[in-house]
Amino acid sequence: MNIILLGAPGAGKGTQAELLRKALSIPAISTGNMLREAMKLGTPLGEQIRQIMDSGMLVDDATVLELVSARIAKEDCVNGFILDGVPRTLSQAKAIDAAGIAIDYVVSIEIDDSVIEGRMTGRRVCPGCGSSYHVVNNRPKVEGICDNCGTELVIRKDDAPETVRERLEVYHSRTEVLKAYYAEQGKLFLINGDQAMMDTNQDILKAIGAKV
Ligand code: AP5
Ligand code: MG
Repeated sequence: MNIILLGAPGAGKGTQAELLRKALSIPAISTGNMLREAMKLGTPLGEQIRQIMDSGMLVDDATVLELVSARIAKEDCVNGFILDGVPRTLSQAKAIDAAGIAIDYVVSIEIDDSVIEGRMTGRRVCPGCGSSYHVVNNRPKVEGICDNCGTELVIRKDDAPETVRERLEVYHSRTEVLKAYYAEQGKLFLINGDQAMMDTNQDILKAIGAKV
């Protein structure tokens, strides 16, 4: 089962990818997390990626597609995978199709821009495994520590309000068009992201026909 999660920054893609990973036993692949890992290497390419991500713009298609195709080729993806944050442009979607990567379901997590800012200011992320938490809505068991890997949680640099506004703008101008692209292929499911996380999760599982 190959699933794409679409949605604005802060819609809950990472949160739902993690819940789906556990429910379906297939890996969640986040290009945001992979790019943040690449940044840590301190190479010239990593530095270039850091500047783009910190500004809220998109990293170039070729870099992203190279990361994704290498990840999908790994053995743990044979029974399926969840793509979180990719594709993000029409050309990325077309490249995935052209590579013969069959996508079964495209889930768009729908949420109004006005809800996003509160989510982003309260978000804390794990620099170790990429998990997302929220100081009110989704607290870790031990304050400031990741439940999955025990790493200290941090605030993402691109969660500053002005960068969030830029990311929303980029979402509406470059990514939202993908809904029409996948609707035409009969693969698109719109899911309400402005409800409790587990309710959104149940709605996604129902949409993709998994037992709930
Ligand atoms: P990426 O890391 O993918 O960021 P994003 O798409 O902007 O989305 P976020 O991770 O901010 O939000 P999310 O939808 O995962 O929400 P979350 O679950 O954390 O990309 C970052 C950057 O990398 C891009 O700007 C770009 O530069 C680059 N990039 C990545 N992919 C690329 C690509 N394909 N091409 C080019 N460039 C690329 O939830 C948010 C908060 O809300 C959390 O605190 C969470 O706990 C809380 N929350 C979640 N669900 C709920 C709920 N139902 N109710 C209340 N709170 C909730
Ligand atoms: Mg995310």
